[in-house]
Amino acid sequence: MTHRPDRRPGGAARGARALARDFRLHVAQTSTAPLGIVVTKAQGTWLTDATGRRYLDLLAGMGVVNLGHGNRAVTRACLAQLRRHLHVMVYGEYVLPSQVDLATRLVELAGPPFESCYFTSSGTEAVEGALKTARKHTGRRGLVGFALGFHGDTFGALSVGGNPVYRDPFLPLLPGTTILPWQDARALRAIDRRTAAVVIEPVQAEGGVRVADPAYLRLLRARCDEVGALLVFDEVVTGMGRTGALFAFQECGIRPDLLVLAKALGGGLPLGAFLASRRILATLAKRPALAHVTTFGGHPLSCAAALAALNQTIARDLPGRAAASGRAFLRGLQDLAARHPVIRAVRGAGLLLAVELATPTATRRFAAACLARGLLVNWTLHRDTVIRLAPPLVITRAEIALALATMEAALDDLRRPGH
Ligand SMILES: Cc1ncc(COP(=O)(O)O)c(C=O)c1O
Repeated sequence: MTHRPDRRPGGAARGARALARDFRLHVAQTSTAPLGIVVTKAQGTWLTDATGRRYLDLLAGMGVVNLGHGNRAVTRACLAQLRRHLHVMVYGEYVLPSQVDLATRLVELAGPPFESCYFTSSGTEAVEGALKTARKHTGRRGLVGFALGFHGDTFGALSVGGNPVYRDPFLPLLPGTTILPWQDARALRAIDRRTAAVVIEPVQAEGGVRVADPAYLRLLRARCDEVGALLVFDEVVTGMGRTGALFAFQECGIRPDLLVLAKALGGGLPLGAFLASRRILATLAKRPALAHVTTFGGHPLSCAAALAALNQTIARDLPGRAAASGRAFLRGLQDLAARHPVIRAVRGAGLLLAVELATPTATRRFAAACLARGLLVNWTLHRDTVIRLAPPLVITRAEIALALATMEAALDDLRRPGH
């Protein structure tokens, strides 16, 4: 992989060292080992750091940058909105064209039962809104999530998250919450007439890229219908084309009652949304009115970027491209796994792929070796043996070939004594 160091004397490199130090000192850290790349430029599938080094980006900001970095249509839409106006009022009071146009287009593309969108600023906030809507609409308290599910880190979203490691430090969480085993049809009996909502990711992303079986999702839909519980699909990661359809539910043969979106929705700007029928979402506007409000949710700049990104996604058939590129990438990973027994499994849907390694140590060393060779990969939050790949959906076949060759070289590095 090309590595072009910045040859300017001192300058950028010295600046980068100071930045890295102040990052550690003054930007609160979420781990003791951040990737720590000093980003100076991002274009297409590539990031550039302060030394001029380029990285092939298989993370896309954790599944956000579907269109690639620096998409021109998104930039143009942002500039046009900047000239019109930024924040003018809290969510829901004024008629903001970029927000209305985005909501209209989203419900049109999602189809029935989706008629209306509530906009937020992030994924976890959209999950909170969906949970509150479900409780208020049904008049029930029960919430159900799944083992290793991840829905965000605010208290409600964490309550339906399925990993004790991240739940326990924050107990007590919401009462009335049940975590079911993943894909266990018999356990669905725990969903009953006290259940307001069941929240599931059609592909568990942080849980190790575990793809739900459509037959299981149909059973889940049937159980929710039987007891009158609302089914919430968290498509924060899978939505907007990543798994080969605009929304993953469109390939499962069922329709959820609420659909949660974020990450790629905003085209690189912060935006989340939950969609449902008008009847369900109306619950937030009455008894009492203003039952759930937000200042910045559906920010006009984010909505303008989102609409441009959505239009590009459809016009360029990025879901179709994700499906085809994902198949090619997966075939390459299967070949790699056949040659390297340290890889225990490869799997995925579209361009949300997983490489499962034998041990957490091998996984960390593999990620580090890839990074040293200029390939950005990382392991998932809940499964430290799984490398998740979620590149921009515009990644080319040549870039996929380069990524596979770099992974192979990184695996060879691991075999070398002392590496
Ligand atoms: C499936 C899923 N839901 C919700 C969230 C929370 O989104 P955000 O980080 O925008 O709050 C995430 C974040 O990674 C996620 O993976």
